[in-house]
Amino acid sequence: METYQADSHRYDEMIYRRCGRSGIQLPAISLGLWHNFGSVDLFSHFIQIAHAAFDRGITHFDLANNYGPVYGSAEENFGRILQKGLGRYRDELIISTKAGYDMWPGPYGNWGSRKYLMASLDQSLKRMGLDYVDIFYSHRPDPETPVEETMGALVDIVRQGKALYVGISNYNADQTAQALKALALHRVPCLIHQSRYSMFDRQVEPELLPLLGTEGIGMIAFSPLAQGLLTDRYLNGIPADSRAARTTGYLKKDQLTDERMQQIFKLNAIAGQRGQLLAEMALAWLLRDERVSSVLIGASSISQLNTNLKALQNYSFTDEELQTIEQILK
Ligand SMILES: NC(=O)c1ccc[n+]([C@@H]2O[C@H](COP(=O)([O-])OP(=O)(O)OC[C@H]3O[C@@H](n4cnc5c(N)ncnc54)[C@H](OP(=O)(O)O)[C@@H]3O)[C@@H](O)[C@H]2O)c1
Repeated sequence: METYQADSHRYDEMIYRRCGRSGIQLPAISLGLWHNFGSVDLFSHFIQIAHAAFDRGITHFDLANNYGPVYGSAEENFGRILQKGLGRYRDELIISTKAGYDMWPGPYGNWGSRKYLMASLDQSLKRMGLDYVDIFYSHRPDPETPVEETMGALVDIVRQGKALYVGISNYNADQTAQALKALALHRVPCLIHQSRYSMFDRQVEPELLPLLGTEGIGMIAFSPLAQGLLTDRYLNGIPADSRAARTTGYLKKDQLTDERMQQIFKLNAIAGQRGQLLAEMALAWLLRDERVSSVLIGASSISQLNTNLKALQNYSFTDEELQTIEQILK
């Protein structure tokens, strides 16, 4: 393969949104490497997805220590993608990784201890061939480790220059408030909160989103397409190459209940009336809220990526559309 040369028009269309009250702007659409970039996937295919993303202004790539499968392979593969040319644009990229879930055996390869976070980030940097990541996240709260220890590790990681910013993921509103308190003692702000948020999962709306808005912390919504449910992927059954069909995927067939499918059909009809595909509308629906700094999608093809980018062409909704959507989601 020729060395990658990024498209000179890459910044022409993307919309960048400020991440809370910080100096960082994130692309309204970011790309996650949870699925589709592991050792079970085809390098020659996913490197093209990564290039297509950057060529369209997607400057933010999100990873975690255990993305794959196998664990670590998405980071290794991303390291190869960087090495094969994308890395030339390192200063144009926001690369994030995380630790908090199961990674290696024994008591120090999971959850939120200082021991785990420090060792895990060192491993991640090696796999990706990087000196630093832009954002390092505590991937989930650990009920058995004092939040001061977990946040203290993130603070020291920033002081060591191994991460530029701190993030937290999957913390509820109370846990977030505790984490912010612990970070404030060290005068290291939390840049961003990564939480699941889609039309089908709105747990963040009552408490977490308002807290993040008030505190000036960015919010990046993961699985904004509910892993593909909020697209046309499953309108005519379960395709053999879809996440729901793959044994390595986290979307289970039993999530495609009759009730869910009815909602999907109805939402699909509204998207059609708006002149959008369902995926576009589902992302647009999240982006209409300015507290959402970015929606963090996955993609198994360039055409999916291109569809999703079209969401940026229209993310305003009439009151009537919003009300109809509310009725369907009830
Ligand atoms: N912090 C956390 O705990 C956490 C947890 C989960 C995810 N995340 C982050 O969020 C990222 C995104 O999560 P996700 O992959 O679940 O996001 P998602 O965007 O909800 O789902 C992505 C999947 O939906 C399908 N899809 C995407 N665009 C499509 C389109 N236009 N038409 C039809 N199907 C389409 C594809 O599935 P097929 O494979 O079937 O084609 C794709 O792999 C992850 O990579 C990760 O970075 C974080």
